[in-house]
Amino acid sequence: MSSIEPMTLGQIAQEHDEVETPKREVVFAVEDLAVAYASNVAIREVSLEVYKNAVTAFIGPSGCGKSTFIRCFNRMNDLVPSAKVTGNVLYHGKDLYADEVDPVEVRRRIGMVFQKPNPFPKSIYDNIAFGPRVLGLKDNLSDRVESALQRAALWDEVKDRLKESALGLSGGQQQRLCIARCLAVEPDVILMDEPASALDPISTTRIEDLMHELKREYTIVIVTHNMQQAARVADMTAFFSVDVAPDGGKRTGILVEYDRTSKIFTTPADKRTEDYVTGRFG
Ligand SMILES: Nc1ncnc2c1ncn2[C@@H]1O[C@H](COP(=O)(O)OP(=O)(O)OP(=O)(O)O)[C@@H](O)[C@H]1O
Ligand SMILES: [Mg+2]
Repeated sequence: MSSIEPMTLGQIAQEHDEVETPKREVVFAVEDLAVAYASNVAIREVSLEVYKNAVTAFIGPSGCGKSTFIRCFNRMNDLVPSAKVTGNVLYHGKDLYADEVDPVEVRRRIGMVFQKPNPFPKSIYDNIAFGPRVLGLKDNLSDRVESALQRAALWDEVKDRLKESALGLSGGQQQRLCIARCLAVEPDVILMDEPASALDPISTTRIEDLMHELKREYTIVIVTHNMQQAARVADMTAFFSVDVAPDGGKRTGILVEYDRTSKIFTTPADKRTEDYVTGRFG
């Protein structure tokens, strides 16, 4: 009897190794970024570029600042009173934090999906129509709703129940609804902070398949705890770790390594990355 060898993370990543870094258009250029909550520096000295029509994953142990970092890409940290962001985030070459930039417009262009699906307590239709209505995009609203649900691979499951409450959908459907809600306002980038960690394996696969589809039109950044998921979906992967001060006191998130996902999972340059991706991290 032959046994089936499980694929390594490196093999999984190599299966879809598409990114050709030098040709990629840069969507975000992060330069020497740091975020502090009051006097606690959560993450520091981060520089990296996020490429258009690619999936970029942030991985690393709990508390290394992945959520803090991803929130810098659509100025969500502005909503945390104690948070202070320093350094630069250039979005298509322009300073995302410049005085004249409207954070509300930023969050339309750069949508976000969270760990726990958070539909509004409204009908499926009204959830998707909400953003366009706020923006005054009222022409062809039904077409817009249908198109967003189609692109989020949810239309077939909900087309006959658009007037029903979104809260009646399964967790996986709710998460695709939240993705559709982002798409309805025609974003450029979709940020996802552990979008599948509350979902069952089948729903997770659907979200991962969706990411492969969506990256043709959008730029996707995800945080994931699941390294298999990073290997499966991401073109580029950034590994973050926690730097502990010599006295054992302050803990700060740092970027250890950023590269093509296939490189991170086969021949990482840094021993800390290797220890983490091979499960030797303590
Ligand atoms: N709103 C906040 N106020 C104060 N400190 C915060 C806040 N959000 C995060 N932190 C702190 O910043 C550090 C990084 O947290 P963050 O949530 O970004 O990590 P993470 O890598 O996303 O962790 P996890 O994998 O557990 O989600 C932690 O020490 C955390 O306590
Ligand atoms: Mg987090």
